[in-house]
Amino acid sequence: AKVRLEPPPAKYGGRHTVTLIPGDGIGPELLNHVKEVFRFCCVPVDFEVVHVNSAVETEDDINNAITAIRRNGVALKGNIETKHTMLSFVRWLTFVPSFVPLCLLMSVGLLFISDTTTHLYANVMHCQSLPGVQTRHKNIDIMIIRENTEGEYSNLEHENVSGVVESLKIITRTNSLRIAEYAFQLAREKGRKRVTAVHKANIMKLGDGLFLQCCREVASDYPDLTFDSMIVDNTTMQLVSKPQQFDVMVMPNLYGNVVSNVCAGLVGGPGLVPGANYGRDYAVFETATRNTGKSIAGKNIANPTAMLLASCMMLDHLKLYDYASMIRNAILSTMNETRLHTADLGGQGTTSEVVQSIMRVIQSKGSLTSEL
Ligand code: NAI
Repeated sequence: AKVRLEPPPAKYGGRHTVTLIPGDGIGPELLNHVKEVFRFCCVPVDFEVVHVNSAVETEDDINNAITAIRRNGVALKGNIETKHTMLSFVRWLTFVPSFVPLCLLMSVGLLFISDTTTHLYANVMHCQSLPGVQTRHKNIDIMIIRENTEGEYSNLEHENVSGVVESLKIITRTNSLRIAEYAFQLAREKGRKRVTAVHKANIMKLGDGLFLQCCREVASDYPDLTFDSMIVDNTTMQLVSKPQQFDVMVMPNLYGNVVSNVCAGLVGGPGLVPGANYGRDYAVFETATRNTGKSIAGKNIANPTAMLLASCMMLDHLKLYDYASMIRNAILSTMNETRLHTADLGGQGTTSEVVQSIMRVIQSKGSLTSEL
């Protein structure tokens, strides 16, 4: 089955409403900068701000956020410290295995999640070397597609007897086929050549074996793309020694988390790379590595690039392509030509100086509204 990811229709006048979740740490300040840039560019997006962060105590607050995302269909989110009360929100964003016994779902507080259309099943991250950023490896251009709903993140853990914990890793044929189809379709759409499935099927013969088998089955429908597979430990070694060999990678949840952080590190770190989570009816955009950056919060030193690029991915999803390219080109020009960098990249620029520079580049190119 083909994957259909449609954004919600715009309102009268072509405006969209997007849920904005400032989150913890550097999230609120970075999202203020996104708002500032959007205002400056007259982007036809209105934000509905919903506060979900580590201070949120009640299920009501979390349910309000879920309702807001359901209503608007699209959210831009700062990262949230993963405390216990937040798990139900994180779980809603991603997972509900319909086959898990009811009693187990109740025990982990997942009962209210029952609608498979809400799953943000595909986590997508595009890691690309930026010419203006000093890194050990050059010319990296990797797309990582991470299964976002099951695997090791099923949250099904229990202590059978004292000192013995079982953590269940769930791999299903349905969800593996779904993510493989998504990866191959995206690879074809983006004109990529090769898809690599990352696994540990030599040890987890049944679980990862099933994931790999599903990828193989889907690959047979895409003869124009080369398909191969690689064991996850070798993959991380290959990534840090010869990352240019990879094109599109598809993998289960935990490997996706680890591999995407390795790749973010390869191209310059968590301040640079945006991430997106897509489901059939909803999409949530954020920084790819999801760190809160608590220790640098409120100091005007965080790198705004990843969050601004996430907002561009969101504009692409809303089919506001011209606004997305205008902001993206200005970010890349500041990064690569102006070379105004924040401290994480060894520079001395503040967050607001970088944002100002981006807006200056936009102004120098002429505003989009005057062209429309
Ligand atoms: P962290 O927030 O300490 O970040 C790691 C490093 O990256 C720090 O040195 C930080 O200063 C730097 N950094 C992050 N963003 C930056 C930016 N925009 N500009 C410049 N430097 C930046 O990471 P840690 O300790 O892994 O996670 C902190 C919190 O984030 C935890 O509470 C964790 O629960 C949460 N988190 C949530 C995830 C989720 O999936 N919801 C995933 C990862 C972390």
